[in-house]
Amino acid sequence: MFSKDVYINRRKKLQAKVKSGIILMLGNNDSPMNYADNVYHFRQDSTFLYFFGIDLQNHAAIIDLDNNKEYLFGDDISLGHIIWMGPQPTMTEKAAQIGVENVKPMAELSKMVQEATKKGRKVHFNPPYRGENIMLLSDLFEVHHSKVKEMPSLELTKACINIRSIKEPCEIAELESHMATAYNMHTTAMKMAHAGVTEQEITGALEGVSMAGGGMVSFPIICSKRGETLHNHDHSNTLQNGDLLLVDAGSESPLHYATDNTRTIPVGGTFSQRQKEIYQIVVDANNISREATKPGVQYREAHLVASKVIAAGLKDLGLMKGDVDEAVAQGAHAMFFPHGLGHMIGLDVHDMEDYNDTLVGYMDELPRSTQFGLSALRLGRTLEENWVVTNEPGIYFIPALIDTWKAEGKHTDFINYDKVESYKDFGGIRLEDDILVTKDGCRILGERIPIEVEDVEATVKSGK
Ligand code: GLY
Ligand code: MN
Repeated sequence: MFSKDVYINRRKKLQAKVKSGIILMLGNNDSPMNYADNVYHFRQDSTFLYFFGIDLQNHAAIIDLDNNKEYLFGDDISLGHIIWMGPQPTMTEKAAQIGVENVKPMAELSKMVQEATKKGRKVHFNPPYRGENIMLLSDLFEVHHSKVKEMPSLELTKACINIRSIKEPCEIAELESHMATAYNMHTTAMKMAHAGVTEQEITGALEGVSMAGGGMVSFPIICSKRGETLHNHDHSNTLQNGDLLLVDAGSESPLHYATDNTRTIPVGGTFSQRQKEIYQIVVDANNISREATKPGVQYREAHLVASKVIAAGLKDLGLMKGDVDEAVAQGAHAMFFPHGLGHMIGLDVHDMEDYNDTLVGYMDELPRSTQFGLSALRLGRTLEENWVVTNEPGIYFIPALIDTWKAEGKHTDFINYDKVESYKDFGGIRLEDDILVTKDGCRILGERIPIEVEDVEATVKSGK
């Protein structure tokens, strides 16, 4: 964990932003995979981790805003737990590590919540996402579990978003140091991308690199030669020369900060001319939209910059036509780029998405678009120094989408469907970096994973 002062300061900031009542934060518990004692890898709730730092099961916390008191709830572990799972610090020791003065057994959580409720005090909590915590909240408030989703505190959630969006120096250092593992994961994939190797073998190797580098993967690995399926978790194909392998993979640092990078790799190490042409458009979209990424600029604008580079490049190849600005304004390019340029990244790969991605990524003056493509942009709002975001443009040829739009006669002024037909077997390309917004621009975190055509080809060939 970080030093005690980090957690004390974070909670102070939170106390200054939420007016009155009590703040309730629930940690996560183990979640059974197929029977109670065979559980998924434990992952602490990110909000709890951020404000209370304890990376263990069965904890909760309350901040009493009116009386300026903080309480850590949990129980000292039994001898049986020590025998099977190993020792832990005592609750008092854990509280001292994070600068919390008051410790209470878990059984007292409901008493404190119910007393506050009885007195008409506001109990603030963020939207829960795990069944176990929804059930616990249902018990604490004596409401049906279906009602719990109506109860979270917008005031608390907005305060958490406000604080967590700006990454502290210790967080930036943690994110940046873990980029070495991201680099190893992606160059490992490149070196393995040869004919006869399976997607499953590469996926397994990448999980190993992540674990060896400090933590589990930050989301299920996407490693597929059918890269046109945006979140393809099927790994059943064997690679052949001529395939493009899309690898979207990230790792959690020892303190659970995420990396999230995508590279698209020519199997065997040589792009075909057709692949190179599309690939270069995505490289350009990545680089040019990064140049547009700076404090004071809406990320929506950077997304539109990437969209225009993509539309212009596709027009040069005869796949699109007409006025580029108008094509992007009408959303025609989204047949090829149906997702957003990026999202915040931090303790979560889509940072704070448990709160609600529109709350995180938009603001009152900038509502989320409903237009196909732009509506998938998770982060639209004005960038600030020390935000960490992804930059991930892509071009995809999705047969079902092409067929549907063609049949509907959609955007025929801007899409050359006859030419597109001949690309329906192409697949997809996405290129994703993690970037830190700086005082007057931004920079890629860590050493950049090979991205230029020659560098990717050379890295693949070095693995033969
Ligand atoms: N890396 C997966 C995503 O950003 O959706
Ligand atoms: Mn991403």
